[in-house]
Amino acid sequence: MLFPLNRPARLAVFASGRGSNLDAILSNFPKGHSLASVSLVMSDNADAGALEKALTRGIPAYTFPFPARKKDKDGLGRKAFEREAEHYLEAEQIDLICLAGFMRLFSLEFNERWQGRLLNIHPSLLPEFKGLHPQRQALESKVSEAGCTVHFVDAGVDTGPIILQKRVPVFATDTEESLSVRILEQEHLAYPEAIRLVLEGKAKFEAVL
Ligand code: GAR
Repeated sequence: MLFPLNRPARLAVFASGRGSNLDAILSNFPKGHSLASVSLVMSDNADAGALEKALTRGIPAYTFPFPARKKDKDGLGRKAFEREAEHYLEAEQIDLICLAGFMRLFSLEFNERWQGRLLNIHPSLLPEFKGLHPQRQALESKVSEAGCTVHFVDAGVDTGPIILQKRVPVFATDTEESLSVRILEQEHLAYPEAIRLVLEGKAKFEAVL
């Protein structure tokens, strides 16, 4: 059994951008918290706000290039990132990885090695609107509800077992920006809640399939 552990879990957060979900995780699980705290932040983007947020709190934070699939046909860039990531994941004895706005896809081997210990947040009510620009997809589809999903990562893109979802209304006056802000507020509640469920052993990869 992976979780619960009989000690605080060591989290890694992977983020490509500004890191507001990282902030939410940090404020729910500050240093010394009995359930978990963030021990590592990794990014594919040297300019990610998430790196600075980590470093100002004294959390180890590293960046390593991870080229987009189109520019990495042989997958060597991805392999190099994964090797680097595994090095720090082991050095920091990480129990659970949280992808928080991490815009790259891992290999099957990486996903399998971390199965049940690798979470992602996506700004749609999966299985609707996978992939890029889910808020735009929601507006174009004229749905009346949107939201966010925290799920375990599996071999697919935005397809793994769902841990929890939060819903928001979509208004006729919404722009991609206004809808994204409304969803993001819910993301900041959803991610810490999902992490808690996983660490308490209440949501498991197999059990929520
Ligand atoms: C969030 O909306 C997150 O759900 C999304 O990127 C944003 C990152 O914001 N992730 C994806 O689209 C992954 N497919 P943040 O950097 O402020 O946390």
